[in-house]
Amino acid sequence: MPTVQNHPTTSIDSGRAALGALPPGGAHARASPSERAAIAAGLQGAAASISPKYFYDQRGSELFEDITGLPEYYPTRTEHALLRQHGGDIARAAGTGGVVIEPGAGSCEKARLLCRRLRASHFVGVDISEDFLHGAVARLRAALPGLDARAVGGDITAGVQLPPDIPRERRLVFYPGSSIGNFDPPQALRLLRHMHALALDGGGLLIGIDCPKDVAVLEAAYDDAAGVTAEFNRNVLAHVNRLIGSDFDPRQWRHRAFFNAAASRIEMHLEAMGPQRVRWPGGGRDFAACERIHTENSYKYPLPAFTALLREAGFGETRHWTDPRGWYALVHARA
Ligand code: TRP
Repeated sequence: MPTVQNHPTTSIDSGRAALGALPPGGAHARASPSERAAIAAGLQGAAASISPKYFYDQRGSELFEDITGLPEYYPTRTEHALLRQHGGDIARAAGTGGVVIEPGAGSCEKARLLCRRLRASHFVGVDISEDFLHGAVARLRAALPGLDARAVGGDITAGVQLPPDIPRERRLVFYPGSSIGNFDPPQALRLLRHMHALALDGGGLLIGIDCPKDVAVLEAAYDDAAGVTAEFNRNVLAHVNRLIGSDFDPRQWRHRAFFNAAASRIEMHLEAMGPQRVRWPGGGRDFAACERIHTENSYKYPLPAFTALLREAGFGETRHWTDPRGWYALVHARA
């Protein structure tokens, strides 16, 4: 099995990958009692962690948009170029005139390009942040008037019901952005199985994956010179402060991003710059200097490892398109 399958899993679940942009509570003050308890439990664990879904408050979503345009952050522009350059081939592999389903659709920016290339009849954006999604789908509809575009609120990791009148033929699940890499491999496999079920017989999946490469290139992509990713990572503390009433001082936490070769993943952490006493209603934790809070993983899949994972999830024949350096790949798999 590929190396990425052989490592201890962590409790970190994925953020934007499954949940899309702006969680409903993002801009609001407090989380629900059970959510607060889950956040506190993560902070009090032997190895402290914060779920990456809390990155995406208003400020976090803006910072994420900035990350995608950074010179060091190659995935977004590489994927975009692949979609443009190989649009014809992709359309031949995926088929035209069908249904495009995008989990975690967010802004629907890439869907616009794809739906145009595929002359899709229907688009279904699925996102936990329904309000944000409705706006994005309305803009998509305006840009592509022939497209029957729908917004469905829901979390694909929990399985999702599409509207009953969405055709069952020629379905393409679209999962760009290398978001699959933000899940631990067992969770990624589960998610791919959901996508396989959504695509039905005769459908397919078009998915973006980020591949292993020079460690300096990888690490720079998650620790840019302008400090935007550092700001994005630290911002999670300000969001957590609002959610549970904690008193983190984000300026006392250093952004750390490094490649864990054994697990084939970038890890993001926040490291205490000195001893920190953090309190919130009903709890707290003391952190020693240099103690870390784990905030996210981003798995890097060699293509053969990823196609093996696709097969394990039930997919058949695959095709892929990659940039000349082999840094990033778009993979099409038949359901
Ligand atoms: N899934 C992408 C990646 O792992 C985008 C992303 C998610 C990201 N969280 C991030 C990028 C944090 C930079 C920092 O690359």
